[in-house]
Amino acid sequence: MPGYSSSMEKNTDMKIRDTENNGTGNGYRMVSARPRILYFGTPVVLVCTVGRNGRVNLAPISSAWALGYSIAMGIGEESMTMENLRETGECTLNFPEGALWQAVEKLAHLTGKFPVPADKTESFRYEPDKFAAAGLTQSESVMVNPPGVKECRLRIEASVEDIRYIKDRDVKAGIVEVKALHVMADTGILADSEHIDPASWSPLIYSFRHYFTLGPELGKTFRSEI
Ligand SMILES: Cc1cc2nc3c(=O)[nH]c(=O)nc-3n(C[C@H](O)[C@H](O)[C@H](O)COP(=O)(O)O)c2cc1C
Repeated sequence: MPGYSSSMEKNTDMKIRDTENNGTGNGYRMVSARPRILYFGTPVVLVCTVGRNGRVNLAPISSAWALGYSIAMGIGEESMTMENLRETGECTLNFPEGALWQAVEKLAHLTGKFPVPADKTESFRYEPDKFAAAGLTQSESVMVNPPGVKECRLRIEASVEDIRYIKDRDVKAGIVEVKALHVMADTGILADSEHIDPASWSPLIYSFRHYFTLGPELGKTFRSEI
């Protein structure tokens, strides 16, 4: 790839240790790298929680995946979100699409935690009303106390099943496993009452700290039901 090697050589943080000669003839020049960011592209989720004091909080995350109706999330230990999840055990997961990326970015430097945790004081500020700060609207949930985000066409109401620490203590985060209790979807993204239509749904993707949406469909797996 032209350009790739020259920008890499300029980066003194990048430790090139070896080059893979895989003989495939695909033209790749594989080297050992040490990227400072390893967020390889996952959907943005706006997690809404409520504290014991009744205060509503909203925070963007991207470390989340679903297996059946269980969803695992990586959440910073010092966040208001984690404190609320431990205290009240409920949340809504709201999935923004591309048009909402700037609203998401307005939340990026905010925390609902007061005082602001020591390792965030430089670039974060306390914000008690994140919905207003991001220009988003609360929508009453059906099964849980935290509201959903009206501007999101896909929302999941969930309850906490388990919270585990991540062993790498440099990360200061926990893995929160939640169970989806109720799903709200706009009819515009439903193929039928039991299926989201992937052709109508395009999540906002967070890839190496940049925002993207999906490109055109390439195909489907043999287990697809629609
Ligand atoms: C696009 C995006 C993705 C993020 N992903 C995560 C994440 O997966 N886990 C996490 O703990 N924080 C993540 N953050 C940072 C939190 O949003 C940030 O720590 C925020 O202050 C948490 O708010 P709170 O303290 O009110 O809960 C992300 C931020 C942005 C903008």
